[in-house]
Amino acid sequence: MEAVHTGSGSVEGPRLPGPGGTEAPARPPPQQVVSALLAAMEDISARKPEVRPPPDDSPQQKLRTLARLAAESPNAVLRLDTAGTVLYANPAAAPFLAASGAAEGRRVPAGWAALIRETCDFGIARSEEIEVGGAFYDVTFAPVPEDGYVNVYAQDITRRRRAEDAAREASRTLLRSLEQTIAMVARAVEKRDPSTSGHQQRVALIAVAIAAEMGLAPERSEGLRLAATIHDIGKLHTPAELLIRPGKLMALELELIRQHPVTGYEIVKDVDFPWPVAQMVLQHHERMDGTGYPQGLEGEEILLEARILAVADVVDGLSMHRPYRPALGVEAALQEIERMRGRWLDAQAVDACLRLYRERGFAPPPA
Ligand SMILES: [Fe+2]
Ligand SMILES: [Fe+2]
Repeated sequence: MEAVHTGSGSVEGPRLPGPGGTEAPARPPPQQVVSALLAAMEDISARKPEVRPPPDDSPQQKLRTLARLAAESPNAVLRLDTAGTVLYANPAAAPFLAASGAAEGRRVPAGWAALIRETCDFGIARSEEIEVGGAFYDVTFAPVPEDGYVNVYAQDITRRRRAEDAAREASRTLLRSLEQTIAMVARAVEKRDPSTSGHQQRVALIAVAIAAEMGLAPERSEGLRLAATIHDIGKLHTPAELLIRPGKLMALELELIRQHPVTGYEIVKDVDFPWPVAQMVLQHHERMDGTGYPQGLEGEEILLEARILAVADVVDGLSMHRPYRPALGVEAALQEIERMRGRWLDAQAVDACLRLYRERGFAPPPA
């Protein structure tokens, strides 16, 4: 509030020098009268910064905040100290704690304690899939090193895990029945030519071993194994007398036998494999220099799996007894693929095959 002076004579005038330089005697000041007072008030509290008490960031307050936020969460939320003692657990964590034998004020299982120490040491959050009492949890450990505790968020993923396991098992069952069907077809092919009994199974073993030696991914070599197991399926259509007849074949007869990759392709092409099995069957007699059949493909135009299959097929074909010649034996077969290396057969597949037999002691079951 401020006072406002009104009226006249509120200010005393200056003193004037008198005659002769002497100061004139002072006149008595006029009577000062305050005749009125005005007061104005304005609310300025909005312009002033609000004065609040300093925030409470004590561990106890943080714990209360966490408890308020996590009370209704469907996921388990816990706070643990670095020794693994449970400082807080929300209601959703109750079954989780019961299964692990922990409780508020008690320590979590030893396996957890190690994870918590590791999390605190590195100071970064980490997630683990943990099985507790037959249930699976996706658990995230989030350290708060400055306050010396770890927040734990656990989501029950048991149903998802069980669904994934069921899907994997169904897929394995499907693959097993597919393999059994393929093995049955392979036996049907070989029944028509007893001298080739077990040929496709052995070629599959050799081809997969070569693929592994070359570092082919296991999922890819699974397709190679299936293709190798039925690579001569087209011979179902070849007259049996041509397959078992000793002696040299006429050009036309040879042509009929050479139809088997195409016939095999026709049989397999509509089966919905996750690998190009029909193409592997079609290309297993192609040669690197383009002199193979049926398409005369060259080099990398031929699928890698088909190039591996060709090496395995030649090794086993030469090793086994045929109606028109005796078995040459493995060493002679290896020398033959060495001779064909690069020109007819893929050089890396041949090298891998030679390493397998000569250095790693590989030996498929005898013919
Ligand atoms: Fe063949
Ligand atoms: Fe073959």
